[in-house]
Amino acid sequence: MSVTTEDLTNADPIEWLKNDHRIIRRMLQELNGTTPADSSAHFESLKKLLSLHNAIEENIVYPALAKIAGDRDQALELFHETAEADILVFSLSQARARDDEAAFQAGVEELTNAILEHVQVEERQAFPLLESAGPRVLSQLANDIVKFRSSLTASSAV
Ligand SMILES: [Fe+2]
Repeated sequence: MSVTTEDLTNADPIEWLKNDHRIIRRMLQELNGTTPADSSAHFESLKKLLSLHNAIEENIVYPALAKIAGDRDQALELFHETAEADILVFSLSQARARDDEAAFQAGVEELTNAILEHVQVEERQAFPLLESAGPRVLSQLANDIVKFRSSLTASSAV
């Protein structure tokens, strides 16, 4: 299951992230077959998972990549790519609101390409670097992700 689910029994944070990637890829495929008018459920699910997944990576994974695995340049590039993806999601939202089918299809294709490329860099370069930092680092990452995720999903009185 994904890190966005309640079941976090497996303590390998890299596997959680890769599993999110599998779900995100599937959601993008599903979105590809829709029109702006009937894309609502697929689009909202994708946005929700992307927001949580990217928040975890931006607050925990990329900083760890920079400070623990020592690849600051790669970390900054990944931050930049998630920001670009946010802009693409926003444009897609606007195309949906205008019911602009051509812009919507082009936007889905652009977002899909951007995310697939980003995920490939993470899985082939960034994650192996973090894994090479050893089991203690991975275990700390797992704890940090669980805490961060509950802080985002818990209701707050503030
Ligand atoms: Fe990711």
